Amino acid sequence: MDLMKLSFMLNGEATEIMVDPSDMLVDILRERLLLTGTKKGCGKGECGACTVIMDGAAVNSCMIPAMKAMGTTVQTIEGIGSPNQLHPLQESFMDEGAIQCGFCTPGMIMSAKALLDSTPHPDGAQIKEAIAGNICRCTGYVKIEKAILSASEKLKG
Ligand code: FES
Ligand code: FES
Repeated sequence: MDLMKLSFMLNGEATEIMVDPSDMLVDILRERLLLTGTKKGCGKGECGACTVIMDGAAVNSCMIPAMKAMGTTVQTIEGIGSPNQLHPLQESFMDEGAIQCGFCTPGMIMSAKALLDSTPHPDGAQIKEAIAGNICRCTGYVKIEKAILSASEKLKG
C-alpha cells in the first residue's frame, strides 16, 4: 500500500514521518521513532502498557492507526521528564515503591498524567478509574494509587 505522510506534534516537536496506512501508532513510536518507553504488551487494547496522551486524553496506542495521529499532539513517557528532571509522577512512583518490573510503569504514568492534567486534585475513586485500563502484574495497585496521590500533592505546590 502507498505510504502516507503523518504530521503531528510529538513531545513538543513537529514530527513528520512516512507511514503505511495499516501501521499502528505504538509501532511507529517504538520501531520508527525509537521511543521505546511506550511498551507493547497485549497489542489488543487490554493491558494499557502502550498508553500515550493524545490531545489531552490517555489512549491505547496499539489501537490507534498511526494516521489517526495526523494533526494531533502526542505525549509519550519520554516527553514528560528526563533523568535529570523527573516529572513529579516519576519521582513519586520511585519514592512509593510503585515500580517492580517496570513494564506497566510508562503506561500507568501516562494515564495518571492525563488525569492530573484535567483533574489536579483527584480522589481515590478518580485515580482508580483513571488507571482501570492499566494492568500491573507485580505491585498490586495500592502503591501506584498512593504514588499518584502523592504526585498530585506535589503538583499542588
Ligand atoms: S499493548 Fe496496547 S493495550 Fe496492551
Ligand atoms: S511493575 Fe511489573 S507489571 Fe507493573
